[in-house]
Amino acid sequence: MFDAIESLPPDPILGVNAAFRRDESPHKIDLGIGVYRDQAGITPVPAAVHEAERAMIAAQTTKTYIGPLGNPEFNERITELALGPLARTLRPRIAAIQTVGGCGALRVGAELLHVSAPETVIHVSTPTWANHEPLVGSSGLALERYPYYDPATRGVDFDRMHSHLARLPAGAVVLLHACCHNPTGADLSPDQWRNIAELVEKRGLLPFVDLAYQGLGTDLEVDVAGPRLIAERVPEMLLAISCSKNFGLYRERVGALVMLARDARGAGALATHQARTARRMYSMPPDHGAAIVARVLGDPQLRASWAEELGAMTARLNGLRELLAKRLAACRPDRDFSWLARHRGMFSLLPLPVAALMELRERHHIYALTDGRVNVAGISVDNVERVADAIGTLTA
Ligand code: LMR
Repeated sequence: MFDAIESLPPDPILGVNAAFRRDESPHKIDLGIGVYRDQAGITPVPAAVHEAERAMIAAQTTKTYIGPLGNPEFNERITELALGPLARTLRPRIAAIQTVGGCGALRVGAELLHVSAPETVIHVSTPTWANHEPLVGSSGLALERYPYYDPATRGVDFDRMHSHLARLPAGAVVLLHACCHNPTGADLSPDQWRNIAELVEKRGLLPFVDLAYQGLGTDLEVDVAGPRLIAERVPEMLLAISCSKNFGLYRERVGALVMLARDARGAGALATHQARTARRMYSMPPDHGAAIVARVLGDPQLRASWAEELGAMTARLNGLRELLAKRLAACRPDRDFSWLARHRGMFSLLPLPVAALMELRERHHIYALTDGRVNVAGISVDNVERVADAIGTLTA
């Protein structure tokens, strides 16, 4: 069976991470994989997460199954974190399932769409996260692209995006990044979100929102203003939530798929399909990380401590953006790098060709993805000058 099988090329993100680990230089800098890092280069576990974990382990009396829909308290609290007061108003129309990370949420959503309507086409931004296409496309759904990023302005090409989406047929699924667009860092403005919300409602499009970075763009409210505008208007919607980055729970694989149905009957039916989809793929999600998140969000003190730590992470990210833009401006006054400070979240795309990105890696031991994506959290006040000088020298 496997005699003729050939090795696959490395994953565009995990492959860079593996190359970084192999590099023995003490000066290497990882701007590849999307994990938050502090000034010391550590990906921290928030204090509230640690405390909730300790309390949970002390109180745990069993490790019996939790069921395909996962932890109901987690589902309720994470829905409320994403949708705010709307979660209560929309509650009868909501079906939520705990998933294996945000990836699991995207995949369960895609599987469910494929089973419900196999001819569904899902439209993703150009560019989009490198794993969106394999993850969602492997469900069997057809994928198409809509214009999003304008390399000339380093912002959203909103007119082209809007007119493209306005031509899609009713029922087409549109995958949107709630905030911290991966890989460009260019987000929709509040007005643009309002326009998109009106458009998807008017055209009968089905929004599928990927919420992987709540709190890491501006704050916990601003980062979800767009999806909330949509949820207020549309009859149906999917929201894929990840707790990897904002709770620092990467390896625990914590996520949720929140689906909005037309009415309570529809939501009840959807929940049965969510449970069956999970049962057929992996049966049930792991408990540990979601139980921690449920505790953090359910305890006012832990929640406040977590929100404060998350706020500090976001301030650091945005401060690093300013610093990098400033250093680059000093090193290349003939070029405009101010867009770096306008972007939000961990990522931006460097305007460097692949050869320059390989030189960045081989000569300077600075690892970016081959599409130019850099994770600004990998920069620190100690290495920003070296990063800026190397990028500045390689910029045409
Ligand atoms: C990233 O975009 O680098 C992260 O979301 C990690 C991953 O799984 O790709």
